[in-house]
Amino acid sequence: MVSASHVLDRVLVLEMVRVTEAAAVAASRLVGRGDEKAADAAAVEAMRAALNSLDFDGTVVIGEGERDEAPMLFIGEKVGAAQGSGPRIDIALDPLEGTTLTAHGAPNALAVLAIAEEGGLLNAPDVYMDKLAVGPGYPAGIIDLASTPTDNIRAVARAKGVDPAEIMVCVLDRPRHEALIAELRRLGCGIQLIRDGDVSGVIAVTNPETTIDVYMGSGGAPEGVLAAAALRCVGGQFQGRLLFRNDDEKARAARWGVSDLDRIYHLEDLAKGDCIFAATGVTDGSMLGGVKRRRDCITTESVVMRASSGTVRWVKGQHRHEPGMQS
Ligand code: FBP
Repeated sequence: MVSASHVLDRVLVLEMVRVTEAAAVAASRLVGRGDEKAADAAAVEAMRAALNSLDFDGTVVIGEGERDEAPMLFIGEKVGAAQGSGPRIDIALDPLEGTTLTAHGAPNALAVLAIAEEGGLLNAPDVYMDKLAVGPGYPAGIIDLASTPTDNIRAVARAKGVDPAEIMVCVLDRPRHEALIAELRRLGCGIQLIRDGDVSGVIAVTNPETTIDVYMGSGGAPEGVLAAAALRCVGGQFQGRLLFRNDDEKARAARWGVSDLDRIYHLEDLAKGDCIFAATGVTDGSMLGGVKRRRDCITTESVVMRASSGTVRWVKGQHRHEPGMQS
């Protein structure tokens, strides 16, 4: 049998782009149509069909929800055309990261996917995760979720050789972040507030063009694993800690095998070994342009990266037919 690492290495890298392209193009029909559910459903269906055409024995470890709440791409669903015979691959996916952004025609919606050898991705429960990230080039251990935001900003500023007031932080615009935002304002930091889409918010710390130095705040835990997979490929540091709002969420985490509820997860705890991260823009964003439906073709912008080599490929697609639908 061909080993999973060989398949990750040579075969699946570009195939992953086909999968995110298919989801992004399907969702793009619904951009600005005010219907989050329809946009998500279109992306899910297209991504599932694309995954099922690939020669691997895949398992969704982060997906659309638990089996009883998601008809497709639920956690535990087997995907791929080589069940039982092909390489065993774990998949974390978000066919439409930014359902509301898509419905409102707002920037930064993505179709995203990460794959790793079996056991390589944290099976994160669908709860919130407190997240902290910086881009590459800082000394290891520069950020620490156990410290205050102020201490983290001061450490990053010191390492960058600037005043804390010159640090730019990306935060999800949510009432729950009021105290965090006030603390950052007291330091004089710049804050880029985003409406949604913290996978691209976290990845933005790796791109100097965004001017974002640090990502802070809570968002979905599954999105945390996806962002961590991307940072494993391009460098940078990330820490995450699961947040529980009630006993039901704690029980859900226990079912997922989480025993230490206060654990701080580092990059390798979330995405270990070799992994591949792929994303295609649905709407224009800081990382990728969105799907453009032109008179004679559909264009897409994607990125695919691999942890073991650190290779990052930017892929511009020009499709004469809807991806996944050509004969
Ligand atoms: P969806 O695409 O599932 O709507 O997620 C968008 C998102 O902004 C994520 O990027 C983020 O992790 C999460 O929602 C934040 O959750 P909430 O909207 O509850 O603050």
